[in-house]
Amino acid sequence: MAAQRIAVVGAGYVGLTTAACFARLGHRVVCTDIDEAKVAALSRAEVDAHEPGLAELVEQGVREGRLRFVPGIPVELSDVDFVFLAVPTPTGKDGAADLSAVEDVLTRTRDLLPPGCVVVIKSTVPVGTTARARRLLGRSDLAVVANPEFLREGHAVEDFLHPQRVVIGSEDEASAQRVRSLYDGTGAPVVVTGSASAELVKYASNCFLAMKLSYVNTLSELCERVDADIDDVTEGMGLDDRIGSAFLAPGPGWGGSCLPKDTRALLSTSDAMRVDFPLLRATIDTNTRQVRRVVDKVRAAVGGTLAGARIGVLGLTFKAGTDDLRDSPAMTVAHLLTRAGAELTAYDPCVPPDRYSGPMRVVDAAHLVAKGARAIVVLTEWPEFAELDWARMAEEVWQPVIVDTRDLLPAKKVQAAGFRLIVTGKPG
Ligand code: UGA
Repeated sequence: MAAQRIAVVGAGYVGLTTAACFARLGHRVVCTDIDEAKVAALSRAEVDAHEPGLAELVEQGVREGRLRFVPGIPVELSDVDFVFLAVPTPTGKDGAADLSAVEDVLTRTRDLLPPGCVVVIKSTVPVGTTARARRLLGRSDLAVVANPEFLREGHAVEDFLHPQRVVIGSEDEASAQRVRSLYDGTGAPVVVTGSASAELVKYASNCFLAMKLSYVNTLSELCERVDADIDDVTEGMGLDDRIGSAFLAPGPGWGGSCLPKDTRALLSTSDAMRVDFPLLRATIDTNTRQVRRVVDKVRAAVGGTLAGARIGVLGLTFKAGTDDLRDSPAMTVAHLLTRAGAELTAYDPCVPPDRYSGPMRVVDAAHLVAKGARAIVVLTEWPEFAELDWARMAEEVWQPVIVDTRDLLPAKKVQAAGFRLIVTGKPG
């Protein structure tokens, strides 16, 4: 298709990826954000998000003149074919999504947008928001379309350019087709549906993933009790392609900026609609319990009392491949351990000591967490932890015990170094 003029409001990882990738696909993109310092940095093609390939795309877009960054709600919006909303929708009152940023953008752009412009909602919004946005704009010459994103942090560019699906929700077929054509270059299957269904696809997907993980985390607890191995169980399950092998790795609990927020928001929608959703409630409760279970394991590993126990922590981000600490189960475990009186020394390749202020000691090399430790806890699956010199670590610790919540470490090597290894979902 011919190059379109696209505005993206919000330069978080979703908005910035959307802007940079549409520029890559040949469109002319202006990306806006209220954070003026961020806009200034992005205009110099300086990207601080930890997203492989994103900085290169931004640099290319800026250099080739297809991508610009401007602060606030700029007049440039009066000259665009599409405006994508990619502003945050954090958890608000009672677990529901807080839509104030979305509403604010709609109110401020209402009189600016040119006739025929399509407003595309990329932010994760509860069912009914696209219809409400249409009413809020109050202009029959504008279309509003839902187009949820499914990007994973750490894979955002790859997921945008090679998506498993594109979902477009609209009550107006022509506008849906215009949005669809923006994704022509990706070759992805496209689901065109009503806006309520599209909005729900997003929540339904994230909540299903969370449910899968809570299921597997509980199953791993059962494995430990009955002398079974969770890896073998999930391998056997995953070969059934109705189940699938992805998202079956146990861990310290699921976290991040999306799954926790979206599970709470869907539960809040269900409650408001008087639909009892015990499965979703249990999914969330199980995750809270999973974090506590890790703390209990560490307590048992250090001999029953955490007060005064030195503990080494490997990994703080909510998963590997990102620098994001939001709703990180690793941070929650660390917090609970500290609250119980443990003295923590932590290392994460994406969390330099000066980024953290609090009761933990954050160090800048992984081996430093071992010194005097009664236990080492692996909370994030950074591959480099598997490569550590475990024999050297064993010489530094007070007691050679490791709680590996991600089943990341090479068991034989670590045990040969003298460690007792406690792995989630494994016998013994
Ligand atoms: C998630 C979804 O996967 C994306 O499709 C969605 O677009 C995104 O939320 C969003 O709504 O923006 P993300 O937050 O990047 O992406 O995180 P995931 O990769 O889904 O991981 C979520 C949590 O599950 C992490 O804490 C991770 O460690 C945990 N996890 C994942 C496991 O414990 N085991 C697994 O097998 C997989």
